[in-house]
Amino acid sequence: MTDLPATVGGTPVFDSQLPFALPTNEDQSRVEKLIEGSLSSGRLTDGPVTRALEETTAERFGIDHCVAVSSCTTGLLFVLQALRIDGAVGLPSFTFAATAHAIRWNGLEPRFLDCDASTWCLTPETVEGPVSALVAVHVSGVPCDVRRLEELAASLQVPLVFDAAHGAGALVSIDDGLRPLGGFGIAEVFSLTPTKVLSGAEGGLVTTNDAALAEEIRLARNYGNPGDYDTRFPGLNGRLSDLHAAIALVAFDYLEERVEHRNRVADRYRELLGDVPGVGFQNVGSGDRSSYKDFTILIDDEFGCTREQVVGALEHEGVATRQYYSPPVHLHQAYADLPLRKLPVTEALGDQVISLPIWSHLPLDDVDRVAYAIRRIQQNAGVVARASSERSER
Ligand SMILES: Cc1ncc(COP(=O)(O)O)c(C=O)c1O
Repeated sequence: MTDLPATVGGTPVFDSQLPFALPTNEDQSRVEKLIEGSLSSGRLTDGPVTRALEETTAERFGIDHCVAVSSCTTGLLFVLQALRIDGAVGLPSFTFAATAHAIRWNGLEPRFLDCDASTWCLTPETVEGPVSALVAVHVSGVPCDVRRLEELAASLQVPLVFDAAHGAGALVSIDDGLRPLGGFGIAEVFSLTPTKVLSGAEGGLVTTNDAALAEEIRLARNYGNPGDYDTRFPGLNGRLSDLHAAIALVAFDYLEERVEHRNRVADRYRELLGDVPGVGFQNVGSGDRSSYKDFTILIDDEFGCTREQVVGALEHEGVATRQYYSPPVHLHQAYADLPLRKLPVTEALGDQVISLPIWSHLPLDDVDRVAYAIRRIQQNAGVVARASSERSER
């Protein structure tokens, strides 16, 4: 291997592309058995496997109620619908578009807010203006400062919902102990898509300690029909199939080891990249544990070439990356009708982020090679920048 990055003639660090995310499949035969059971029982959706998933979630996350739904987006949509509110809902712009879409689908106005420069999450300091509810996001699996946000919501007398799409397996340090996400605010909503630490291929989980809210979401996922076909409000088909629930139920047994491995991956990335000029990281709150659904770095001017040039150079090395969340949602075309607000921290993050490969069985050797590729690009940043500008001039 030469010391030149692949984009300027060196040997690529990977022969074939290292995937950005890969689902982990520890016990396929148990999943198959559960699915076969569903197929032969004829109960394919919202049946016993879904109930078992709901019970396991409630027990593991230490909450009273879990309602399984077809996606996190649907779950957020149902929770917001159940609030029966008007006006603006505050949310961070540094998130996936679905957080905002769930607000808009309810005819509510998203009020995009800035985020904390250290954790990249919404904090009480970044909430401003009148809101009738708040939706905070545990970005990449880093828990929000849940207690302080709960205090703020109580003082504003507005409901607080957590978009916990990335949060399965994350822990919050509270009252001298560690608590899983799931029981904060009035509800938390998890996603089960394939890139998540706990996956069911598709699906979502709404967790809450509010029995009336849980009941309302159960109705909402079934068109608003309690069983007598006299619908109480316009719900949707938001059910989870037992086939998806089977995958997530088995995954629960491996959640802890998946998160532990992802924490090892993240520690290794930090250790190997910590002294590379121009590379920054997201911080986890003191005593908390991230699920590390994603591991994202920042590239600033000190690196010596642009974020886009680093992304391009990593592609040549065989490293797949994403840019979560760039552009941030307040700059999406979908929200161009709203008054444009300046969100300086969010916009700076959006310009600098690169999310690196992380999965629950990613070999640490591969982490070493990704880190080596980034270091090599930085050490040759001037050459990489020049070659990239020459290519774009041609
Ligand atoms: C922060 C966030 N919220 C919501 C969602 C939507 O989840 P789903 O695809 O399960 O609807 C995602 C999806 O990745 C997400 O990242």
